[in-house]
Amino acid sequence: MSNKLNKIGILTSGGDAPGMNAAIRAITRTAIYNGLEVVGLQEGYNGLLRGEYEILDARSVGDILQKGGTYLRTARCEDFKKPHVVLSGVEQARKIGLDGLIVIGGDGSFRGARDLTRAGLPTVAIPGTIDNDISCSEYTIGLDTCLNTVKECIDKLRDTSMSHNRCSVVEVMGHGAGYIAIYASIACGADCVLIPEIPFSISKDVIEKIKEGHQKGKKHCIVIVSEQLLDPAELAKTIEAETGMETRATILGHIQRGGIPTMRDRVIASQMGAKAVELLLEGKSNRIVRMKRGEISDIDIEEGLAMKKDLPKDLIDLANILSI
Ligand code: F6P
Repeated sequence: MSNKLNKIGILTSGGDAPGMNAAIRAITRTAIYNGLEVVGLQEGYNGLLRGEYEILDARSVGDILQKGGTYLRTARCEDFKKPHVVLSGVEQARKIGLDGLIVIGGDGSFRGARDLTRAGLPTVAIPGTIDNDISCSEYTIGLDTCLNTVKECIDKLRDTSMSHNRCSVVEVMGHGAGYIAIYASIACGADCVLIPEIPFSISKDVIEKIKEGHQKGKKHCIVIVSEQLLDPAELAKTIEAETGMETRATILGHIQRGGIPTMRDRVIASQMGAKAVELLLEGKSNRIVRMKRGEISDIDIEEGLAMKKDLPKDLIDLANILSI
């Protein structure tokens, strides 16, 4: 790997997120603008390991900005946790002629980026996940589009719950973080929200709340549950048995990961993509591009991974106050 930056690679890793394409486009065009060659590695770290890539020019990333998913495709690569696999990644990068790499993904992907840098391939990471669970960044690419999809789905569920005087239990994604659930609760007027960050009791925080709501004149209700906390179908049965309110459960699932990226996701992804290239051009690596106080900046990967992200208490309080 030469010290001078001539050729860089891009890969998307982990779960896809709307806006990843805007980042791929911004990286490619910023790099080309600065005289670099760019290759797109396919299916995350697997593409690096197998040497599966395509040369990207300004036109190859045309017409992808407005599309969901990732043009480069993505995968989770468990093998990349093994040091000898990382070393063969660096070997492949050498064969392709890469002087640097930009990884778009979540914290698992960031560990791979850190390991690659340590093994000799300068790497910069960009947070791309609908979960917003990257501790060092206020925002992760894909959150806004995901929230808009969730809003649309829950609004529709509200229509039918209202018509039938029913309770609707809705499971949203989050991967151990309650951002999607809490934002959805505020924006869609949930009566109860269960998130991993706050311990809860079904009888007190769901059943009693629904009964109280009923006494206050609520004829239908929405319960939002973050994934992996409980079985939504079981919760629906309990609610129906304990409150007498007919209840249906809906798991929004992977629909939350698709769709046309919003304006916010496109702009932030473009800014983060350009910033990642600038960092490599400045000779920096092992950095995470992040949003802090609304500005795009960067932080050491190790430092970023060690940080803890707390769901803002005021959001949780607001969701509770607005559900009376
Ligand atoms: O990290 C994004 C995410 O959609 C999480 O919210 C969810 O827990 C997970 O990925 C689902 O992963 P998979 O697509 O592998 O089922």
